[in-house]
Amino acid sequence: MHYTLIDGLSTAKTIREELSIETHTIHSSTGHAPGLALLLVGNNPASEIYVTNKAKACQEIGINSVILRLPAETTQDQILLQIHQWNEDPTIHGILVQLPLPSHVDSTVILEQISPAKDVDGFHPSNVGNLVLGLPGFVPCTPLGIVELMKRYQIDPSGKHVVVLGRSNIVGKPMANLLYHKRAYSNAIVTICHTGANDIRDYTRQADILIAAVGVSKLVTADYVKEGVAIFDVGINRIDAPEKKSGYALCGDVDFDSVLSKCSAITPVPKGVGPMTIAMLLSNTVRSARKFLTPSI
Ligand SMILES: NC(=O)c1ccc[n+]([C@@H]2O[C@H](COP(=O)([O-])OP(=O)(O)OC[C@H]3O[C@@H](n4cnc5c(N)ncnc54)[C@H](OP(=O)(O)O)[C@@H]3O)[C@@H](O)[C@H]2O)c1
Repeated sequence: MHYTLIDGLSTAKTIREELSIETHTIHSSTGHAPGLALLLVGNNPASEIYVTNKAKACQEIGINSVILRLPAETTQDQILLQIHQWNEDPTIHGILVQLPLPSHVDSTVILEQISPAKDVDGFHPSNVGNLVLGLPGFVPCTPLGIVELMKRYQIDPSGKHVVVLGRSNIVGKPMANLLYHKRAYSNAIVTICHTGANDIRDYTRQADILIAAVGVSKLVTADYVKEGVAIFDVGINRIDAPEKKSGYALCGDVDFDSVLSKCSAITPVPKGVGPMTIAMLLSNTVRSARKFLTPSI
């Protein structure tokens, strides 16, 4: 079957260029640049890379970012104090707390204290509620990026059976919630699968659109999907690759080579969904800045 390779890297680049124009317009008309505060607590090397990449992406398009690195032993109250300061800071339009936080800190309490108006990750219960109700609010970046890819590749979920693998708060749940509303690029019939299913193939084989977010390398093979399926692979998994200098390679939750002959469209890993996540963080931040700085527009 002929398939479309959904190029998240180039789509994200296009979006960043569009956002760059917008940040410069905001700056020239208001005298202020959008501002994003990033909080990193502890020394998790992966988190350090994520935060640094987000700050770099901000800089490239004219968003002022500040990274606050706090030691692992920082108390919950100290973190809350910082969040409250950023909530009141007129130069900050988005606040991102890099997860996971150290185990002595309750991330739910921290995320609840971020002002919903600056919650560019879309994790505050108020934004989660808005998403469920179909009301305006911030939507988590990875699912938002997948809908953006659907729009730009004209893969309309309306009337289709979408199967979402995984029910995490950051991917699976918001993904499913984005797709059943009675509006454009939604209106799908949505099934969520998780480890409670005896055999997820009973569901995945019915999918017109399959979104895999389980964190299990190459779980989805050809016998999991039907002919013509469009696949969005969220998984980022490390597998041994002794031939590589690093000793590992990245792969998705989907066995790309196995499913290819049955797909109508598919995102690769890397260069698929991943780059869209940062692009949507930038988009949410610019949107927030626009609201704060140009409320009449
Ligand atoms: N591309 C990006 O920008 C991006 C962003 C976020 C995450 N990710 C990647 O996406 C993957 C998922 O991330 P996450 O944070 O959503 O993971 P998570 O919090 O670990 O959740 C995984 C979900 O998958 C379900 N699951 C696990 N194994 C399963 C199986 N064999 N069959 C059916 N369901 C299964 C779990 O079910 P239970 O609830 O029953 O345990 C859980 O709901 C990871 O590889 C992560 O690195 C990528």
